Amino acid sequence: MGKMLITGASGQLGSAVVRSLVAKVPAADVVGMVRDKSKAQALVDVGVEVREGDYLNVQSLVSAFAGVEKIYLVSAVAFSDRVTQHKNVFEAARLAGVRHVIYTSIQRISDDFCPIDGVTASDLETEALLKSSGLDYTIVRHPLYADGLSLFIGDTAAQEGFSAPAGQGRVPLTNVEELAEGGAVLLSQSGHEGRVYLLNSGQAWSFVDIAAALSRITGKAIGYQPISNEAFVAAREAEGWPAHVASFIGGWFNAIEKGAFDQTSRTLEELIGRKPKDLEAILRDAFKL
Ligand SMILES: NC(=O)c1ccc[n+]([C@@H]2O[C@H](COP(=O)([O-])OP(=O)(O)OC[C@H]3O[C@@H](n4cnc5c(N)ncnc54)[C@H](OP(=O)(O)O)[C@@H]3O)[C@@H](O)[C@H]2O)c1
Repeated sequence: MGKMLITGASGQLGSAVVRSLVAKVPAADVVGMVRDKSKAQALVDVGVEVREGDYLNVQSLVSAFAGVEKIYLVSAVAFSDRVTQHKNVFEAARLAGVRHVIYTSIQRISDDFCPIDGVTASDLETEALLKSSGLDYTIVRHPLYADGLSLFIGDTAAQEGFSAPAGQGRVPLTNVEELAEGGAVLLSQSGHEGRVYLLNSGQAWSFVDIAAALSRITGKAIGYQPISNEAFVAAREAEGWPAHVASFIGGWFNAIEKGAFDQTSRTLEELIGRKPKDLEAILRDAFKL
C-alpha cells in the first residue's frame, strides 16, 4: 500500500484520522500535513511523518504530496476562499501523481435545499471540481459535529437549559472521532473510488430530544426554548459575537430547522463495525458530563 496523507493534521478531525489510521496500517505509510511543524509533536509521538503544506501554496502541496497515493482532504475553514484552496490541492495532487482524494463535504437533503452560507456552495463546487479532476475520488458528507454543540446552544446548556432557532428540526449529531475512524477505514481499504457517502450516527434528534437527554444525564429539568433565527442572531451579537459569526451559526440552524439535516445513514456504522455513539454518550462527551 502506498503512503496516505491527511491534511489538517494539527486540527481536530485530521489528528483523529491520523490516530485512527495508525491503529490499522503501519505508521510508516501515514503522513500528516500541517502548516507549522512546531504544532505537530502529537503526530511525531504516534510515529508518523510530518510534512508542511499550505492550501494557499501549490508548490508547498506538490512537495508535501511526493510519493503519496491517497489524500484525506480536511475541508478548508469557513470565512476563507475554500474553493481556491481545494482546487490547489487537486492540482497539486495531479502534479505529484497522487491517485485518490477523499474529500469531507457537508450533509444535505439536496443540493439546492436550504444551503448554508459559507459552506454549501463551496462544497458543491469542490465536489464538482474533484469529480472532474481525473483523480479517483471519494466524497464523504458529514453532519453537524457533536463536539461543537456548545457553540450552538451555549456552554451552560447542560446546567441552565437553552434556547435555539431549531424548531422541531432534527439533526444526526455525530462524534468527530467516529467520523475520523470512518475516514481511516476508507483510507485503509480499496473499493471506495467514485463513491459519495453520507456518514452520520444513524439517528437524528430534535433539540427537544437533546434537552430531554440532558435532563436524564444531569437529573435536572433542562428546558429547550425554540426562538426565531433573528432573536438568536441578535442575542449572540449582544453577547459580543461578531455579526458574521452569529449569522453563520444562524444559517446552520436555519438548515436544521427546515430539515436539511434530517437524513440518517448506516454507512458509518458499517465502516467502523459498531453502532456510533447514541445521544446520551454524544452529549456526555460534548459537555464533559
Ligand atoms: N460539520 C461540522 O459541524 C463542522 C464543524 C466545524 C468545522 N467543519 C469543517 O471541518 C473542517 C475540520 O474541522 P476541525 O474541527 O478539524 O477544524 P480545526 O480543528 O480548526 O482544524 C482545521 C485544520 O485545517 C488546517 N488549515 C487551515 N487553513 C489551512 C491552510 N491554508 N492550509 C493547510 N491547512 C490549513 C489547520 O491548520 P493550523 O493548525 O495550521 O491552523 C487545522 O489543522 C473545518 O476546516 C471545516 O471546514 C465542519
